[in-house]
Amino acid sequence: MSLLTELTAQGLDFLSSLFIFMVGFIIFIIVLIFISDISQTKDAIRRNYPVIGRFRYLFSTLGEFFRQYFFAMDREEMPFNRAEREWVNKSSRNIDNTMAFGSTKNLSPAGTPLFINCPFPTLDEHATSAPTVLIGPYCHEPYEAASVINISGMSYGALSKPAVRALSKGAKLAGCWMNTGEGGLSEHHLEGGCDIVMQIGTAKYGVRTDDGKLDDDKLREIAKLPQVKMFEIKMSQGAKPGKGGILPGAKVTPEIAKIRGIEAGKDSISPNRHPEISNISELLDFIKHVREVTGKPTGFKAVMGSDGWLKKMCEEIQKCGTECAPDFITIDSCDGGTGAAPMPLMDDVGLPIKESLPMVVDILSQYGLRKRIRIIASGKLITPSGVAWALCSGADFITSARGFMFSLGCIQALKCNKNTCPTGITTHDKGLQKGLNIEEKAVRVKNFAEKIHYGIGLISHSCGVKHPRELSRHHCRIVQSDGKSKSLDVLYPQPEVLEKYK
Ligand SMILES: Cc1cc2nc3c(=O)[nH]c(=O)nc-3n(C[C@H](O)[C@H](O)[C@H](O)COP(=O)(O)O)c2cc1C
Repeated sequence: MSLLTELTAQGLDFLSSLFIFMVGFIIFIIVLIFISDISQTKDAIRRNYPVIGRFRYLFSTLGEFFRQYFFAMDREEMPFNRAEREWVNKSSRNIDNTMAFGSTKNLSPAGTPLFINCPFPTLDEHATSAPTVLIGPYCHEPYEAASVINISGMSYGALSKPAVRALSKGAKLAGCWMNTGEGGLSEHHLEGGCDIVMQIGTAKYGVRTDDGKLDDDKLREIAKLPQVKMFEIKMSQGAKPGKGGILPGAKVTPEIAKIRGIEAGKDSISPNRHPEISNISELLDFIKHVREVTGKPTGFKAVMGSDGWLKKMCEEIQKCGTECAPDFITIDSCDGGTGAAPMPLMDDVGLPIKESLPMVVDILSQYGLRKRIRIIASGKLITPSGVAWALCSGADFITSARGFMFSLGCIQALKCNKNTCPTGITTHDKGLQKGLNIEEKAVRVKNFAEKIHYGIGLISHSCGVKHPRELSRHHCRIVQSDGKSKSLDVLYPQPEVLEKYK
């Protein structure tokens, strides 16, 4: 026998022994799993269907990933469907996002907005861009804001460093503001040179004393920065009304701990409300205090539940003079996003923006405060139609968190509460952050904001007005449960200013 034949025979011999060993080993493992499954008492499926029952868990985990690629229809996923995500994705990449053949959107469900086109649309040469809006006329330094769409609060902590840096640079390119979220102000927010809205969360991260109270000196220092334009007191956010921020210990890096003024590696949990704000007069006092210390417009963010307290607040404002009003109110939808929240709050508490925005606008109008208090709306307003609806309903500005996350490349993996975001947006894992190119994503942030402005411009001109801020309730109809639509100004007629506030 030649040497080659001998080596081949030995090789085959080894491979067949290896194969028999592997088969034996696999059978051995299956037997072990079988014994473990039938002898355990915690899981009925595994006890009744040993070994095979485990595939259920494997498939449901894999289903989470594959559904969006293979099975889900364009318009059926939550919180955002593929059509919406693709619109943001294409817009931010600046690639053609026109569509062919016809709309895939089902226009029958109740609540669908339809914009009322005019027989004589605005000629392109007569169209203008949306004018700026002044916020905080009684402040030492009012803020004249230009962009209709802006970046909603997301803390450095919930977001990664490259994500914050890309948003900061992108906001500067887009000419919009960026809200810090409740995690305090970092050098990364300032890096791009954009306008900043500093959020004061219930734990006062970044402006807190050691025992969690507001530190006026730190607040004053931050207010001195020309980039910081406004202060937003966070009362509540849509995804978790009545619960404070939750940042898992894995995401509390030493740097984040330093910015927030807390201990690294430990869960960062904020109180479920500002301890010093337990009623309307304390809220107005707190706003007044922050405005006096900072000299800049100060307002609050809340998700609406009942409306009685807002009416009482307006009455108190009328008693103490309109100067004492918040300069803006940010109304968040109950279906807003978050880094982490308990399901009962996320799913079931608070009002959606569709209901709360017209409600707040009307209350402020009745009390003669509509022009004094600017309204910022947020909650799944990530396409021109959502933004245009909000403008028709009476919002002055729209902010978006997840829209801008999509522009950074978010794939809705729903992992923001872990440290494992596959796109590097909400993780502090350096390996995962590598994929997020700051300069390139900053341009995408700008493109997304531009495409929103372009889209709301198209809707406005089709409705016969010169710019998006001229949109009003009669430009939008809402599909009802019987399939017919009703005008927004019939559903929410413009209220009269109450006699004593005229
Ligand atoms: C990752 C993440 C972090 C957030 N962090 C904050 C925060 O610190 N403070 C806050 O008021 N809202 C926070 N939010 C809520 C958003 O600011 C916004 O109100 C909400 O997501 C609705 O806007 P959207 O539908 O465009 O995302 C966060 C949302 C996300 C997705």
